[in-house]
Amino acid sequence: LGCFKKRRDNKYRRLQSGFAAATFPEMTLSNSELSSPKRNSQTVTGKAAWYSYYAGFSTPFVQDVIRKLGLPHEAIVADPWNGAGTTTQVAHELRMSALGADINPAMVMVSKARLLGNMVDPSQTTLCTHILRKASVYRADVLEEEPLALWFAPQSATLLRNIERSIQFYLVGPAYSRLAKLESLSSISSLSAFFYVALFRTVRELLAPFRTTNPTWIKKPKHPSGRLRPSEEILARMFKKHVETMTAAIPNLLDPMAQSEYPEIKIDCADSKSLPWKDGVADAAIASPPYCTRIDYGIATLPELRAMGFSSADVRKLRERMIGTSTIATATPASQREWGDTCNSFLAAVRQHRSHSSASYYIKNHLQYFDGLFRSLKELNRILKPGSRCVLVVQDSYYKEIKNDLPQIVTEMGQAVGWKSVWRDDFPVEHSMARAHAHAETYRTESTATESVLWFVRA
Ligand SMILES: C[S@@+](CC[C@H](N)C(=O)[O-])C[C@H]1O[C@@H](n2cnc3c(N)ncnc32)[C@H](O)[C@@H]1O
Repeated sequence: LGCFKKRRDNKYRRLQSGFAAATFPEMTLSNSELSSPKRNSQTVTGKAAWYSYYAGFSTPFVQDVIRKLGLPHEAIVADPWNGAGTTTQVAHELRMSALGADINPAMVMVSKARLLGNMVDPSQTTLCTHILRKASVYRADVLEEEPLALWFAPQSATLLRNIERSIQFYLVGPAYSRLAKLESLSSISSLSAFFYVALFRTVRELLAPFRTTNPTWIKKPKHPSGRLRPSEEILARMFKKHVETMTAAIPNLLDPMAQSEYPEIKIDCADSKSLPWKDGVADAAIASPPYCTRIDYGIATLPELRAMGFSSADVRKLRERMIGTSTIATATPASQREWGDTCNSFLAAVRQHRSHSSASYYIKNHLQYFDGLFRSLKELNRILKPGSRCVLVVQDSYYKEIKNDLPQIVTEMGQAVGWKSVWRDDFPVEHSMARAHAHAETYRTESTATESVLWFVRA
C-alpha cells in the first residue's frame, strides 16, 4: 500500500521494452514533466470551463504533448474523438491546423464554440438581446413532441425551444430545422455554437434538482407535476448571464486583425470508424477513445441533445452508433486474433465468468466495444502520415474482478495496425468510473484506476 501511495503522489513513466527515446530524438520524452490528461479545478479555466465534460482532457496536457512532439506550425493535428474540443482549441491557439471529429452533435457544438475568438467581441451581447427578443414573440410550438418536456412543464419547455429557434433564425438559417435531421453540422458556425452552449448551460443550471452523485446521470421527475416551471423572465436572465460569463472567458490574446491568418480548424460530426478526411493528411494525433467503463456518452449529454431538439428515438439511434455504448446491436462481431492476446484473454475470461449475463449481454457488449475500437485505430492509421506520431490516452478498468488492461490492449492493437509503441506515461486516477460497473464492489475493493498516455510512431 505504501508503495502504491508513493506512486499516486509521483507520476511515473516507463519505456516500453525494445524502444528507447533515442529512436525518436526530436521527442523530449524524459526530461520534463507531462501534465495529467485529467481535468481538475486548476485546469478548468477560460473556455475549458464553458462546458464541464466528464471525459475532457486538461488543456495543459494537450499543450505539453504538442510541445513534446516538437511539431512545426504547419503541422496538422487530428483528434477523431474530439469531445469538448480540447485538442482543437489548443491547436488553434498555437496557430496550428487541426481536424476534430466526434459522433455526438452536442460535443461538436461545444468544440466549435471553443474556437470563437475575440473578433466578434462585443457583438455577443447585442446578439443575445435580439435572440431573446425574437424568442419572446414566437407563438406556436415548432416541434410536435417537445424533447425538453421530460424535465420542464410545457410552457417552460416551449420558452427554451424558442430560444433555440431564435439562435437558428439569426445564426443558422431563417427556417427552423431539427439538428438531428441534418447530415452534418457544417452549417453551424463557432458563433452559433457559442449561443447553443449558453443554452446548454441554462438547461444544466435549471436541472440542478435532478443531479445525482453520478456525474453522467440526470434523473427524471417521478411524476409530470414534478417538472420545472421557470418563467420567461428567469430563463432570459439565466441565458444572458451565461452569454456574459462565457464572453468574459474569451482571451484577448488573438489579434483581431491577424485572425484571417489563423490556419483552418475543421470539426466534423463523424464516426471514428469512417472519418471524412484524406489518407495521410495528419502529422500527429492526440486523442482519447471512449473508455470501456460503461460511461454512456449519449446519456451523459441527454440535456444537451434534448436542448438541440433530439427526440428519444434520435438519442437511441445516436447511442447505438457510439463506441462504449450500453446498447447492443443486432449483429455481434466475432473476436479477432489481430486484437491481441491481452484482449482475447480478457474476452475469454468475461465469457466464462460465472455471473449472470456475462456470457450473454456483457460479452456482446465488450465484443462490440473492441470491434469499434480496432476499426477506429485502423482508420486513424489511414489518415496519419507515414512516420507521424499518435498519442492516445486510455484507462484500465475491471469487469467484476477481471482486469481490463485497456492500455496494454491498445498497445497491442496499435502494433497490429503497424505502429511502434515508444513510450508510456501512467497517472493514477482517484475517483474512477471503473467502479461504475454494475456490482463492482461485490467482486473487488480497490477503486482506483490508471490512466495511461501511450506514445506511438506510425510506420
Ligand atoms: C474520452 S472522450 C474524448 C474527450 C476529449 N479528449 C476531450 O478533451 O473532451 C471520447 C469521445 O468519443 C466520442 N465517441 C464515441 N463513439 C464515437 C465514434 N464512433 N466516433 C467518434 N466519436 C465517438 C464520445 O462522444 C466522446 O466525446
